[in-house]
Amino acid sequence: MSIMNLSFKSGEDLFQFILLGVLLLFTVILFFVVMNIFMLLKKLSIGGNGSTVVQAADKGGFWKGLTDAVPVSKEETVMLDHNYDGIRELDNHLPPWWLGLFYGTIIFAVYYLLDYHVFHWSPSQAQEYEIAMTDAKKEVEAYQAKLGESLDEKSVTLATDPKALEAGKTIFTEKCAACHGAAGEGTVGPNLTDEYWLHGGTINDLFATIKNGVPEKGMISWKATLKPNEIQNVASYILGLQGTNPANPKAPQGVKAGGDATAATTDSTAAAK
Ligand code: HEC
Repeated sequence: MSIMNLSFKSGEDLFQFILLGVLLLFTVILFFVVMNIFMLLKKLSIGGNGSTVVQAADKGGFWKGLTDAVPVSKEETVMLDHNYDGIRELDNHLPPWWLGLFYGTIIFAVYYLLDYHVFHWSPSQAQEYEIAMTDAKKEVEAYQAKLGESLDEKSVTLATDPKALEAGKTIFTEKCAACHGAAGEGTVGPNLTDEYWLHGGTINDLFATIKNGVPEKGMISWKATLKPNEIQNVASYILGLQGTNPANPKAPQGVKAGGDATAATTDSTAAAK
């Protein structure tokens, strides 16, 4: 959003215009504040005007500078003509330390307004929340990635997270489909959608097969190419293909999952050659 856009197309534009007015007002105030501060500084500095030097010398420069109190001997000069049953009122100077703080709050308010409402230099609370959430998410991802690094065929579990399965599908399409078919129906490599497995059909078995490969039968070892969690993802994706019955399925090979010894053809090499 730009403060230069002053057409009232929306409530926000009007709000900006009001803010701009407030801003101008504050600029004027600021000018006077700065002038005042200069005058105060001049008063504080020894050797400003003659009378200050005398007063400061009288009452101790630092304390006097801080409070700007009129010495008791000169109280008559700030005495108001209010008189309440003998109780009279002094019109003492505002202490410079207090004035300084007061002007400080005004300057801060101007800065705050500009920063948070006009230029949006600093993030709002809502944005801070978003930033914190994004950071936390990155930390969680980094942590999970680290967990992924340490996965092996013993500790691997079936991934069910849609994102993980989607990542597994991508890997499958890029690296595996050439030999196993786009839908896992099998071409050079065996059909991955049926219940028959040459090397076991659990997530742990698949992890081991993919990681170590079966080089002598044409299935590469993927551990140099894929990270453990990527192997987990693609293995989980493959197990999700169970029973999908794609077109042109390759005949079952291996042993039916669940230990049934109904062996189909011995291995894929027969078909591959
Ligand atoms: C160059 C071809 C080729 C590529 C590429 C390939 N495979 Fe294979 N894959 C095979 C062959 C051949 C077999 C059968 C090995 C055997 O006969 O023991 C096999 C077997 C498997 C098995 C075991 C199937 C069973 O019945 O036990 C799995 C699981 C597997 N591949 C997954 C993958 C994954 C995942 C990828 C991609 C990262 C992949 N393959 C890439 C050729 C390939």
